[in-house]
Amino acid sequence: MNVIVTKDFCETCDVVAKMFFELISAKPDAKLGLATGTTAEEMYPLMVDYFKKGKLDYSKVRTVNLDEYVGIPKTHEQSYRASMDRWLFDSVNIDKENTFVFDAQNENEVPKTIEEFYKRLYEGGNIDLQLLGIGANGHVGFNEANADFLTAGAHKEALTPGTINANARFFDRPEDVPTSAITMGLRDILSAKKIVLAAFGKSKAEAISGLLSDDNITTKNPATFLKLHHNVTVVIDRGLAGLAGYKG
Ligand code: GLP
Repeated sequence: MNVIVTKDFCETCDVVAKMFFELISAKPDAKLGLATGTTAEEMYPLMVDYFKKGKLDYSKVRTVNLDEYVGIPKTHEQSYRASMDRWLFDSVNIDKENTFVFDAQNENEVPKTIEEFYKRLYEGGNIDLQLLGIGANGHVGFNEANADFLTAGAHKEALTPGTINANARFFDRPEDVPTSAITMGLRDILSAKKIVLAAFGKSKAEAISGLLSDDNITTKNPATFLKLHHNVTVVIDRGLAGLAGYKG
């Protein structure tokens, strides 16, 4: 695992945005695996900047997003579709037809959106670069920590009370916070050619420590499954590296 320790969160965003910049510059029709969360949110403006300065052309870029809530419409401002449109897609010259975010407001739409996902995931080659954040419990996408098992493929996942609680800040009323989501499974994430995981903040220290301190894999910290991949870069700032006990 490659680990990049930055001086602060700003530099973490710079490093990740630069990886996407270099990829798209070298391969204009690159397939990007994208993520949501506040960490990703702070990085997307830099990807928009590259476009505005005329340094990047997104016209042939294809994207697949990691996950999406079940139970809220895609027009809801907290849906990951609306967030991606707002943070990135609406500000660059990407063809929205080439972007995919799971779409299942109702339970019965889950199989159809998963079918479409697999078409997008494998059509024309695997994801070139998959961006990941990490939950406090080590979740990647919405593959929640579980004492017994994880699910390999794309699936609907019940969110843990901790995750629901962490997401509550984005919704007006507690009863509005989604309790389930669709997510890529670990097999789908690991099918990317290259993965970059960016994390920030002390709540992630334990999960990052589990990822970097040994070679063990556990369903209790889903991010540890990234140890099975040959090309993963973890980008964390000095503060988080210290809290996670990472010495380099
Ligand atoms: C949500 C997303 C995850 C992401 C996490 C990180 O839970 N579903 O894919 O890893 O947010 O959140 P943040 O960057 O806000 O800490």
